[in-house]
Amino acid sequence: MSAHDAPAGEATNPSAQDIPAVPSAPAVPSAPVTPSAPFAPSAFLFGGDWSPEQWDRDTWREDVELMRRAKVNTVSLGIFSWASLEPAEGVYDTGWLDDVIELITAAGIGFFLATPTASPPPWFTLAHPDAMPVREDGVRLTHGSRDTYAVSAPAYRDASRRVARMLAERYGSHPGLRGWHLHNEYGTLDHGPHAARSFRTWLQRRYGTLETLNQEWSTAFWSQRYGDWQEITPPRTTQYLHNPAQLIDFRRYSSDEMRSAMVEQREEIRAAGSSAPMTTNFMLPTWNHLEQWSWADELDVVSLDHYLDTTGPDAEAHVAYGSDLSRSWSGGPWVLMEQNAAGISLGDRTIPKSPQRMIRHSLGYIARGSQSSLFFQWRASLGGSEQWHSGLVPHAGASTRRFEAVCELGSILERIAPAVRLPADGPLVEAEVGILWHADGWWALETPHLPSDTIRYSDEVRATHRSFWRAGIPVDFVRPGADASRYRLLVVPCLYPLSDEQVTWLEQYVEAGGELIVTYLSGISDASLRIQPGGYPGRLRELLGVRVQEMLPLEAGVQVALDDGGVVEEWTELLDTTDAEVLAVYAQGELRGLPAITSSARGSGHAVYLSARLRQDSRDAFFAAAAERLGIAPTLAGAAEQGLEVVRRRGDGADHVFLLHHGSEPVTVRGDGRELISGQDGASGVRIEPGDVGVLALAPGAPLDLLPHTPS
Ligand code: GLA
Repeated sequence: MSAHDAPAGEATNPSAQDIPAVPSAPAVPSAPVTPSAPFAPSAFLFGGDWSPEQWDRDTWREDVELMRRAKVNTVSLGIFSWASLEPAEGVYDTGWLDDVIELITAAGIGFFLATPTASPPPWFTLAHPDAMPVREDGVRLTHGSRDTYAVSAPAYRDASRRVARMLAERYGSHPGLRGWHLHNEYGTLDHGPHAARSFRTWLQRRYGTLETLNQEWSTAFWSQRYGDWQEITPPRTTQYLHNPAQLIDFRRYSSDEMRSAMVEQREEIRAAGSSAPMTTNFMLPTWNHLEQWSWADELDVVSLDHYLDTTGPDAEAHVAYGSDLSRSWSGGPWVLMEQNAAGISLGDRTIPKSPQRMIRHSLGYIARGSQSSLFFQWRASLGGSEQWHSGLVPHAGASTRRFEAVCELGSILERIAPAVRLPADGPLVEAEVGILWHADGWWALETPHLPSDTIRYSDEVRATHRSFWRAGIPVDFVRPGADASRYRLLVVPCLYPLSDEQVTWLEQYVEAGGELIVTYLSGISDASLRIQPGGYPGRLRELLGVRVQEMLPLEAGVQVALDDGGVVEEWTELLDTTDAEVLAVYAQGELRGLPAITSSARGSGHAVYLSARLRQDSRDAFFAAAAERLGIAPTLAGAAEQGLEVVRRRGDGADHVFLLHHGSEPVTVRGDGRELISGQDGASGVRIEPGDVGVLALAPGAPLDLLPHTPS
């Protein structure tokens, strides 16, 4: 029996010889989409995922009544509805969806329509067992959960295109359609025979010849030399360590393969004549299977599902982090497709969210460019796998503080929407600081057996963003190779591989007068994770004017002081300067007196190297000092210290200053304009209570100040 025929659930470990030739999917035209206009609905989209197929019709009617009461204007339909829409292969049942759409349309509620391809129904598994994903260890998954699909399986791709086409033909021109929600959170990795076939094709395109691949993958080590393309497989479970180049290429391939599946759906929908905007929902923060910049190229607008991983004050910084990433990926406005209304169940615990925090976070996303406040999900399920995820209508029903808060949010959004429009040109949020982001950094630091397995890309980028957030300084994320000239400061946290082009781009940025700060574990390797010899970080040694002889990770719990007052944990390096000034040295331990932070002057700019991992408070102080040195000011001086987050969202002939108060004492902000929620006159000062929000409309660039606190 070939692996291809293995019944669902049975372990397989397909060898190259077992793999039958599979006809490749028909070519799909793939011209990147250039959105004709930014995503600018006439109101902030408010609502969330609604799965009416879970409920009886009386509940539908009650739901729509409650939606009207809460001023909900958008629901996302169809996300996991494949089995209801196509109960048997090629047999469609759309009557219920017609009725749902008619019901909401009559109530003035619009909808995102999903292609339901994240959750193939059981009949599909039985008919096409080869289209189920195979795990790294060879186990083929089966239905019973969701996200079970082998993205490169022709049967899956065909079925996905068909159902997308059917939906587009039926609903693609519906006036209530706000946009297409393609799939849901792409992210199932497949190691099966179909993936092996398409991975090889991807590698052939990337490397051309096996000789090049062997060289790029350093296959001379451990006798891994490939003599035939058929010998290459996805990185399935093996005896010991995988080849890191194979691992990162598999992640890149998987992202590209899923993207082409998404593009196919988009093209089917366009071919059916629907011109509604296209998005797919990205997911943060726990996993990352997508290279977001290239995905954003294919979308009209980026959307994000954002779930907090903390109950503490870092949740607020995390809202800003997810928002700044999404705005940057989207290149402007974006859509918050899901957040949790209240608690999110992580299995072993629930992360709560108070009603007030739910409102504040919703405004926090909008402050940083979201055009929506959408949730998972409208009504909390009574059964099924996610019955303990919260909903806008909780299990306890509508007579609850939760639902009251939902109604309050609806009124706030209605009050601010007419004023908070998109700017005619220029960025939504003006930032002078850029942080480089690329999924390669994430994937590289997930390869095993690095000098430290505790340093994670997402933690490092987030810690850097957190420092600027705590200082009240706006930040964008930057795509490698993009025009970075508007940023006075560009930070590169832990971007381990860098290509020649990326190195040149960084050099040019500094030459032209930019201030670059590079941290440890950046520029260590080329794109194939091959280390550049001669001292780390080989790719950036000349630019930084340093040479690292040795990486010296610290034991857990060990801290080392620097002479500038900073404290270091987890990571140190034995660093020589070749052409750089020393900004800080170690004050203790075996590296005492040796450089930790350096700066080199290049052209009209500087390249700073941070060779040690600063503890968060020291990192905050370091970046705040760097910003101050460059004259980069917080949006409102002194606000962050009082727990007040201030974001200036540029609009059409006006700025909207979002005041998000996470602190514990009332604050008063003065600016010559009107606060849109309470109607307070900004010229005499807008008072914001702890936990509350305000949106102050001002003339573009108008000054703001914080008034001294007067106890009431
Ligand atoms: C994700 C999914 C939703 C749901 C929520 C639960 O983001 O898109 O379908 O599973 O998480 O929190």
